[in-house]
Amino acid sequence: MDSKIQNSSSQPHQTLAPPLSSKPLLIDLLTPFPEMPSSILDSSILKKAQTRGVVIIRIQNLRNWATDRHRTVDDTPYGGGPGMVMKIEPIHRALQDLRNPSSLVICPSPQGAQFNQQKATILARHPHLIFLCGHYEGIDQRVLDHLVDEEISIGDYVLTNGVLASLVIIDAIVRLLPGALGDELSASQDSFQNGLLDYPHYTRPANYNGWQVPSVLLSGNHAAIAAWRYQQALERTRHLRPDLLEKQSPSIPLQSVFHSTSNPPSSI
Ligand code: ADE
Repeated sequence: MDSKIQNSSSQPHQTLAPPLSSKPLLIDLLTPFPEMPSSILDSSILKKAQTRGVVIIRIQNLRNWATDRHRTVDDTPYGGGPGMVMKIEPIHRALQDLRNPSSLVICPSPQGAQFNQQKATILARHPHLIFLCGHYEGIDQRVLDHLVDEEISIGDYVLTNGVLASLVIIDAIVRLLPGALGDELSASQDSFQNGLLDYPHYTRPANYNGWQVPSVLLSGNHAAIAAWRYQQALERTRHLRPDLLEKQSPSIPLQSVFHSTSNPPSSI
């Protein structure tokens, strides 16, 4: 177990590099199981984004705000029934300590509004997000009524806890932050960001097992590549997710979203 997480409720999850020009997004992940998110936050893009100072992610152990000897954060439900319910007092105390006037408190839950790329884009503009992660049968309704700003669902299924859902949402947000991805174009070009599914991607070898990379991608003709990618994205979307096209504006600026890569494989 990470001692940094256990012993401190306010330490950044990563040592930070000097921040980029804009202020880093601050994310607090409030959970009674602080060991859960570590491996995800310590890997890949999420780790790099923290190291680069694009985002500060702090894991907050909810039990630090419990006052009894056993650091209790849950209790049996009024009215009876199975499972445990998360108590209001530790959550209220934690939020009093963590939130400021610009904070947005999010509780991932199956009852929430459906998460999507547009929501990720909106959340990426907030300066401070607090994710309250539910567990057990649920959270005392008064928390949701009085202390939480938004409930967000990641789909019509039930998870064992809110940490997983929070990490999904955080991942989708962080990759949108300037400087989080190595190639600034990546996030602007991918699925949903422009209202279409992504076009297919290929890398070397050009021929594997007789399975060929489309020849246009080997042509070096950037305009033809951009047109092909746009066509592929459109066809995929029409085939797999026609509902997305119904929401689409009639003309999508092709060149702005379907650049051919500025960094092609050096040999093919
Ligand atoms: N917690 C449990 N299930 C969830 C879901 N589908 N979305 C968000 N949070 C959840």
